[in-house]
Amino acid sequence: MDEEFLSERAKNLKPSGIRKFFDLVANTKGVISLGIGEPDYVTPWKICASAVKSIQQGMTMYTSNAGLPELRHAICNDIKSRFGLDYEISNCLVSVGVSEALDLAARATLNPGDEVIIPEPSYVAYPAVVELAGGKVVPVPTYESNNFEITASDIEKKITPKTKAILLGYPCNPTGAIMTRERMMEIADVVKRHNLIVYADEIYERLTYGATHVCFASIPGMQERTVLLGGFSKAYAMTGWRVGYALAPDKILAAMLKIHQHTIMCASTASQMAAITAIKECGPDSDRMVEDYNKRRLFIVGGLRRCGFSCFEPKGAFYAFPNITSTGLTSEQFAEQLLEQQKVAVIPGTAFGESGEGYVRCCYATGMDDIHEALNRIKKFVDSLK
Ligand SMILES: Cc1ncc(COP(=O)(O)O)c(C=O)c1O
Repeated sequence: MDEEFLSERAKNLKPSGIRKFFDLVANTKGVISLGIGEPDYVTPWKICASAVKSIQQGMTMYTSNAGLPELRHAICNDIKSRFGLDYEISNCLVSVGVSEALDLAARATLNPGDEVIIPEPSYVAYPAVVELAGGKVVPVPTYESNNFEITASDIEKKITPKTKAILLGYPCNPTGAIMTRERMMEIADVVKRHNLIVYADEIYERLTYGATHVCFASIPGMQERTVLLGGFSKAYAMTGWRVGYALAPDKILAAMLKIHQHTIMCASTASQMAAITAIKECGPDSDRMVEDYNKRRLFIVGGLRRCGFSCFEPKGAFYAFPNITSTGLTSEQFAEQLLEQQKVAVIPGTAFGESGEGYVRCCYATGMDDIHEALNRIKKFVDSLK
């Protein structure tokens, strides 16, 4: 009966395909999970200690809405040192994770019916964020044969007079793809010609293997058209701290800040103090985690290939995205049956959009022993299908 009180937007919102799967996992004992997309490390102690210290010192009040100036300076310096981009701290907003920053970017820039081009498969929250802001999602499939990079020509085919923005999430969750500078330059050309903006979700930018991440805002002419989103969750194993940031041109940042002021006030003070230590002092800790992810990445990709799958070699983030079409099962059937029969949780590719059909996402931010055992079980499962 309370259904009648729901807004159309809430009613139309699809539940996350990932959550549905976690509910199944929660009810099965002895599961090895390659499902959840978060680091298995605890936050480096130095980071935790600075939060504890700030609480002991009584730093328990709100910070300024945009975030602690020291943190915003540190973010701007970090981006300058790694990508050569100049941002004033007035162009930087500290958010409650990239999740909030994405929501702010969409709400600050979209009018009802504005279209946003999103490569697919991609992070589950992208369509929801755009729809909740009144925008319309225009998916553009990406392909294993093309290293899951989105191309300028595929984008251009979907452009209409209503197109406002492109949401680029690279390194990509779930494919592990990154974009080459050449492809980004071609996209930048489309962005300029059609007068668009870009939301660049670069939360995995520190997690690359052998290939260097290209920051979209560093492509000539793109800084003034890009809302650059970054965070602490993945690089510093800080998912529970809920800190991220947005760097954007003046007017867009001011609009995002207004929404943030009214809805959030500020990110948690202790978490911001922790983030200052992370960004200033914990680059080496992050590098060590990345080295470890790299070992796991090579191990899981090799193992999945030995199971008979074609598996794109991920160049960033911490996901492998094997092609499971040789089993004759759909992504959902594969994930459900693997869980039922061998107690291994993976996420069906379709949770990341229709073009994820034929794939499953395996997160390798999991201990090596578990990955080893999961691969043995996957092999048994695949053999049982023959
Ligand atoms: C691509 C991508 N963007 C954003 C997020 C959300 O990150 P945060 O913890 O900073 O809100 C995630 C989390 O999985 C992600 O994979």
